[in-house]
Amino acid sequence: MPLDYSEFFQSVEQFCVEAAAAFHDAASLDGLETARARYLGKNQGFLKSLSAQLGQLPKEHRAAGGAKFNEARLQLESLYEERTQALQPARDTTPDLDSSMPARPSWRGSVHPVSLVIDEICEIFRELGFSVALGPEAESEWYNFTALNFPPEHPAMELHDTLYLDGGGLLRTHTSPVQMRTLQAWPPPIRVLVPGNVYRRDFFDSTHSPMFAQIEGLAVDEGISFADLKATLGHFARRFFGGSRRTRFGPSFFPFTEPSAQMDVETDLGDGKGLRWVEIMGCGLVHPAVLESAGVDSERYSGWAFGMGPARIAQSRHGISDCRVLFDSDMRVLEQFAR
Ligand code: PHE
Repeated sequence: MPLDYSEFFQSVEQFCVEAAAAFHDAASLDGLETARARYLGKNQGFLKSLSAQLGQLPKEHRAAGGAKFNEARLQLESLYEERTQALQPARDTTPDLDSSMPARPSWRGSVHPVSLVIDEICEIFRELGFSVALGPEAESEWYNFTALNFPPEHPAMELHDTLYLDGGGLLRTHTSPVQMRTLQAWPPPIRVLVPGNVYRRDFFDSTHSPMFAQIEGLAVDEGISFADLKATLGHFARRFFGGSRRTRFGPSFFPFTEPSAQMDVETDLGDGKGLRWVEIMGCGLVHPAVLESAGVDSERYSGWAFGMGPARIAQSRHGISDCRVLFDSDMRVLEQFAR
């Protein structure tokens, strides 16, 4: 006897209520899986018996019955999905981190003692109207020697004193070539300070390094005399080493200055031996030949220049007897100079 449509409708409803309750009641994924097999399983499930009943409906009710049947199935499938999500073990979102662990100490970095000296010197001269100029470390022989009035047979140009480059040129032995570059680039009045690294063919021992820093100073204008040099460098020494420090000038020689001098400062090296005279720079009036090489009229203009080694100054300031310490990248060394 063909099944009555309302009976079929009720079976489906009944099936939905029961299955929904079973899905809701499942307390674990395992329990939910058992309920799924029971209600939605292809072979032993209730669905199977319902679809058999669907086949017994009179023809005119089969389409409506089929629609009802599919609607129920889709509803239960989505309920099943929902419950699967809900029963999924909560994903652990806590980062794998132990906040009670002490932080690693961080080193904040500090300015190298030689750079500190360079900065201070630049600052003092900045107050006097000097600006900073830079030049290349790989130079031509002309800028490093010829233009600076070195005679061709000067011993500084010997192969064993200077680092020559393969393709021609050399590593500059001083910052003085930037005097020439500055004079060529700007008309006087000129007041520049030139910090930079220079290279010499020296051993790396406690008192020598094949690379070291220099600071060059250059002032060119009308009517500049040795009195300007003495006054300016004396002012610098008192600002840098302390107001009561004495300075003295002694004769010296450089091919690019005439007359040439060295300036000593009476200072304490921090070694307990008290005050003594320390040579801190070479200096002099710019040789007229240098001005002429740059195309500057040496009848009208004159100037003075100096060159000093900030590493030596940093060493005496901190009582460092071995200059290799300044090249050490060991944090324990550098940390001591942190400001
Ligand atoms: N260039 C010289 C040196 O390296 C120093 C210096 C510079 C001397 C400027 C006089 C004037 O020794």
